[in-house]
Formats: sequence, structure tokens, C-alpha cells
Amino acid sequence: MRKKIVAGNWKCNTTIQEGIELAKAVNELVVTTGAKDVVVVLGTPFTHLTSVVAAVDSTRVGVAAQNCAAEAKGAFTGEVSAAMVKSTGAEFVILGHSERREYYGETSATLNKKVALALANGLTPIYCCGEALSVREANEQNAYVKTQLEETIFNLSAEDFSKLAIAYEPIWAIGTGVTASTAQAQEMLAFIRGLIAEKFGKAVAEETSILYGGSCNAKNANELFAQPDIDGGLIGGASLKAEDFLPIINAY
Ligand code: 13P
Repeated sequence: MRKKIVAGNWKCNTTIQEGIELAKAVNELVVTTGAKDVVVVLGTPFTHLTSVVAAVDSTRVGVAAQNCAAEAKGAFTGEVSAAMVKSTGAEFVILGHSERREYYGETSATLNKKVALALANGLTPIYCCGEALSVREANEQNAYVKTQLEETIFNLSAEDFSKLAIAYEPIWAIGTGVTASTAQAQEMLAFIRGLIAEKFGKAVAEETSILYGGSCNAKNANELFAQPDIDGGLIGGASLKAEDFLPIINAY
């Protein structure tokens, strides 16, 4: 059975002290009342990784970086490598988030390198894809997402591909309060699973966790997660308070 994953993406929020408090609060709720069959992940700033890993019960709460360098090591001032992320005890890395593509110029070529380095260092990539509003309005979202996948993760071996999770995050739904309708989200995730089946076979497609992200919250998570192809969520704003995040974890 493929894994259900609810991952928080804290983005550029919280000081280290606030992050530790938040992680402890989420951990406490997950350990006492969290659904046991859901993989909970906290995507923290680099600076927080080691402390957050130490603050949570690793059997119940995983930790993710939100990015990693496209190079293994060397003279790349300001970069944090996949090996460095791994050495903090984090197990996941969010890659290809639309904010990184848009504001930091991440291309498919960069993402190829990042995904490969993440996998080589034993991290689980949570690979993000999703279209802008103009693409959706032109009804070209399927072709757009297909190209994103083909250029970045469909060149992996089936073995490597089966180690990652995918998050579909339509840009028009991120931080806007406009969630994709349940039907839109299910349709796209089923489309992605179909592409995976064509490329890697049905068995791999059935085992791949595909998440929805974009204004997912305690109110809409139930309906979204009830869809056959939605295996969880990548949560921004609603992951910044433990009491908002827990109901999403327990929405299954
Ligand atoms: P929001 O949940 O704040 O819309 O953010 C979604 C997101 O970008 C998660 O990576």
C-alpha cells in the first residue's frame, strides 16, 4: 500500500526557537492523537533541521529540508548540499517548489541534479509540480505538468523513481485561499498516476505517493484526501500552527 503523507512546508517562517516550539507541539499532538498510518513531515528552514530532528519522535515525525544544492560540494557560497541535509538527520527534501522555480530561477536542468544528489544521499525527494493560472485558463495544465515530470524525474530508473513522492501544487492555489476543487485535484493526480504507469508500469504507479498542495486546510482536507488518487498534502500556511496542522493529519 502506498504511503499517506502529510507534509508541512514552513517556507521562510519561524525563528529557530519558534520552530522548535512548533515542532514539539506538533510532535506532542501526533504522538498522543495522530493517525498512525500517516507519515508526518515537517519541512523546516536549513538552520532548524538538526534541532527539529532532536525535538521530535523520529518514529512518528519526519523532517524535510525545503531545498538542497545542485552540486555535491565545493566553492558554492551559501549553498547547502544534500549530504549536509542528510547529516542533520532529516530524511526528506522538498524539491522544485514553484516559489524556487519562480523566484530563484530553478530550471529542469537544476532539478535533475538536485533530485539525483538527494537520492544519492539517501533523502526522499518530495518533488513539486504544478501550473500557473494562465496555463490553467488555457486548459493546458496536463501538457504543462507532463513536461515538468518528463524533464526532471521521468529520466530516473524505476528503482530511483520509486523512492520519491510527488506533490501537485497549482500555483494559483498556493497561499491564495483558493483551493483546487476536489475534482480538479483528483483529475490531475489521476492523470499523473497514469503517466507514471505508462513510463514505469502500473505497479510503480500504484506505489507512488502523490500529494495535493495549495490552500489545503482542516476544512477541505477531508474531502480532498477521500479521493482515490490523493495520498496526502503538502501544507503551507496551515502547517504553522500545531492545532491547524493536526486536523489535516487526521483528515483520513
Ligand atoms: P499554502 O498551503 O499556504 O497554500 O501553501 C502551499 C504550499 O506551497 C506548500 O508547499
